[in-house]
Amino acid sequence: EKGGYDYFMLKEIAEQPKAVADTLLGRIDPSGSLTLDEVRISPSELREIDKVVIVACGTAFHAGLIAKYAIEHWTRIPCEVELASEFRYRDPILDGRSLVIAISQSGETMDTLMALRHAREQGSKVLAICNTNGSTIPRESDAVLYTHAGPEVAVASTKAFLTQLVACYLVALYLGQVRGTKWGDEIQAVIKDLSRISEEVERVLETMEPVRALARTLAAKNTVLFLGRHVGYPVALEGALKLKELAYMHAEGFAAGELKHGPIALIEEDVPVVVVVPSPRGRSVLHDKIVSNIQEIRARGARTIVIAEEGDEAVVPYADHLIRIPATPTLLQPLVATVPLQVFACELATARGNEVDQPRNLAKSVTVE
Ligand code: F6R
Repeated sequence: EKGGYDYFMLKEIAEQPKAVADTLLGRIDPSGSLTLDEVRISPSELREIDKVVIVACGTAFHAGLIAKYAIEHWTRIPCEVELASEFRYRDPILDGRSLVIAISQSGETMDTLMALRHAREQGSKVLAICNTNGSTIPRESDAVLYTHAGPEVAVASTKAFLTQLVACYLVALYLGQVRGTKWGDEIQAVIKDLSRISEEVERVLETMEPVRALARTLAAKNTVLFLGRHVGYPVALEGALKLKELAYMHAEGFAAGELKHGPIALIEEDVPVVVVVPSPRGRSVLHDKIVSNIQEIRARGARTIVIAEEGDEAVVPYADHLIRIPATPTLLQPLVATVPLQVFACELATARGNEVDQPRNLAKSVTVE
């Protein structure tokens, strides 16, 4: 049942191109616009929305953090992202014009369920992004956009995460389409890029052997740090979470711009630091800032593991290890940048003799607090 792979996690990582394609299937019409009939919230209601609040836990929360960049950019609607466990116990400011998005692979996570009930009590519409048909979270929501990752067995979420991202982009683009923003042309272009993204994920998977080899050399390390900016920041958080849960290593993700506000003190000789580099095209200011961050940490002895777009030559002099990913629009980069981090964590876990599919102390579905 593991389809020839040693672990479900490896199988599920390999299934990502299909999972991504399946999640897009039937949702982009031949004219290049989106049809999300499942979102049973009428276009007129969607036009009235003045705030989006995303609630989720763990990896799904990281998908939400990335969604915020996309939603605010393409729709100009303010978007907050909150851990469901925090949201459910506070007094959030919501009303009938707020759209709450609950993201959950299992559809059974207790905190996320309680957060959505909390939102509905205040009259907000709830849209679930979920991978499990008929589970509790979509049943209690006003509408649901299913991710089509197929069953995810490994405790660590991989393919579900990529499909959560796809669903979030679809929602962001759809809201943009329905409401009409000045980004109309960009939205059309991104829909095209999205429809090709599964091939890019496939290409990343074909180049993972050096990442595995690198991971094996780091098995005796105590700490790995992850840095990113913009959508690369949640990718860094996700890379760190995967490493904690699978390799049982101290791993932390930081916004690169925060280095000087504390984390740079952690940089010492030979500490591995994974840096997610934004595309040098488009918003090049992000790229240039991160190149100087890489220089700074390397000057202090860090071993830099740089994830950068093909053709980005500016990073080469400062990368002790360079992992290439295909060029994508900035907002879509997490779909390709996360994959090497999954492979990295999985291989480190194996090298440390850990049980990959069933990490200690963790459960696939967290139905208690
Ligand atoms: C990490 C992981 C967890 C889940 C979290 C939410 O790899 O799997 O952090 O993402 O427990 O689970 P769902 O998405 O089922 O609500």
